[in-house]
Amino acid sequence: MLDKTKYHIPEHVGIIMDGNGRWAKKRALPRSIGHKFGAQNFRKITRYISKTGVKVLTLYAFSTENWKRPADEVSALMVLFKQYLIDSLTDFREDDIKVVFIGDRSAFDPKLIELINESEEVAKDRKGMLLNIAMNYGSRDEILRAVKELCTEASEGKLDPQNITEKDISDRLYTGGLPDPDLIIRTGGEFRLSNFLLYQSAYSEFYSTETLWPDFNEEAFDKAIIEFNKRNRRFGGV
Ligand code: FPP
Repeated sequence: MLDKTKYHIPEHVGIIMDGNGRWAKKRALPRSIGHKFGAQNFRKITRYISKTGVKVLTLYAFSTENWKRPADEVSALMVLFKQYLIDSLTDFREDDIKVVFIGDRSAFDPKLIELINESEEVAKDRKGMLLNIAMNYGSRDEILRAVKELCTEASEGKLDPQNITEKDISDRLYTGGLPDPDLIIRTGGEFRLSNFLLYQSAYSEFYSTETLWPDFNEEAFDKAIIEFNKRNRRFGGV
């Protein structure tokens, strides 16, 4: 476990969990098996991160674009979401992790929506780390929703368009009221945000690792924190 007295622990960490497919391919296994190991790692690493002192963890589990994948892969992912949400209900209770889902849940099947609602309900009074699970989440869609809300409020005379502030926008995002992410980690070696927390990540440090998601363990997370501690965050200043 990382020595908290030696390292500054970011308040909010976002993770793009990429590389399940490649992990499976390297082992000549179907992609769905990569997702299964990815989902197991989701449970394990979330528990670890909750003990490091991180206050908010946002995990990108399913994007608004992921529906374009082959139907059998999408349905395998939905089965995994259900399975691992049920299992995580117990785990996360032990660690006092508060679970919230961000994204448009209405597109999921009724059983999954029920599980999502239940996971949030049972965790609502917990005081530990806040875990945002982004499912059917897309940052552009999130910004569009905020814009529509603002337009509606303006048309009803509740606000003056000339006085809209940056905070008015961020308050209407799914992450409204939360600190912006300090660190965004992407596994699987790519260097892009893929429609994840675009508005919120204006000053986030970005860390990309070749490690594929199912292999992203405690040590790999610690490495990201050590690297984050080397960055000189200026937020546009000097
Ligand atoms: C990206 O790997 C991963 C996903 C699209 C799914 C992420 C989901 C999980 C890890 C499961 C999380 C589980 C719960 C319960 C929230 P990829 O398929 O794009 O990998 P590739 O780039 O190697 O093809």
